[in-house]
Amino acid sequence: MKVGIIGAMVEEVTPLIEAFRGLGCPTAQENLGGNTYYKISVGANEVYIAYSKIGKVHAAITASVMIAHFGCEKILFSGVAGGLAKDLKVGDLLIASKLCQHDVDISAFGHPLGFIPESATFIAADAELNALAHKVAKLIGKELREGVIASGDQFIASESKKAWIIKEFGADAVEMEGASVAVVCNAFGVPFCVFRSISDSADGSADVSFDEFLESAAKVSAQFTLQMLKALGYALEL
Ligand code: ADE
Repeated sequence: MKVGIIGAMVEEVTPLIEAFRGLGCPTAQENLGGNTYYKISVGANEVYIAYSKIGKVHAAITASVMIAHFGCEKILFSGVAGGLAKDLKVGDLLIASKLCQHDVDISAFGHPLGFIPESATFIAADAELNALAHKVAKLIGKELREGVIASGDQFIASESKKAWIIKEFGADAVEMEGASVAVVCNAFGVPFCVFRSISDSADGSADVSFDEFLESAAKVSAQFTLQMLKALGYALEL
């Protein structure tokens, strides 16, 4: 099996690459389209890991390359997000039920916010992967929330913008890549899921909180992603 794992930033994938190195898994690297792809062998299975760079376009490139070039059969996204739901705090782990693009607006033509003709406002993550994630969470005693993730090419750092995204999309967390990966995976018929650990509350102090908690929150998501791979049949001694 070939599974692709995408993060947006180097901090989001480094804990994964280090874990595989620590386990002595053979690793090769390939540069393509401005990204470095790590191809890691775990027994008979392979995992491809890359950080895309920030934003929906970069993440879409990485997801497309993983699927169309490397032949990944499932995609997992691992990273951090700003919490919108009141009860989400720094370090909490969330899996996306569905994802939308909060910065899509062709309402001038009568379309709902976030909607693109011949596409959809919300794209649901793979039900089987999400169900497996909840099973894994229960098994290892880790709290895993499920909620709506809104993506856009904006770092959200104000109460007003945060309130607007909650009102318009009913979102629980905000980030800058997940929905574009959802669009690509949906277009190619590849199952995907998105894990995000909370680094900030998308409010006036989000920038400070993000800088402080990026690494620790990224590790929470990466650790869970490894457990997910194990549950998918990868021989990992975690
Ligand atoms: N990723 C982490 N925090 C975020 C925020 N506040 N806005 C957008 N993306 C984020």
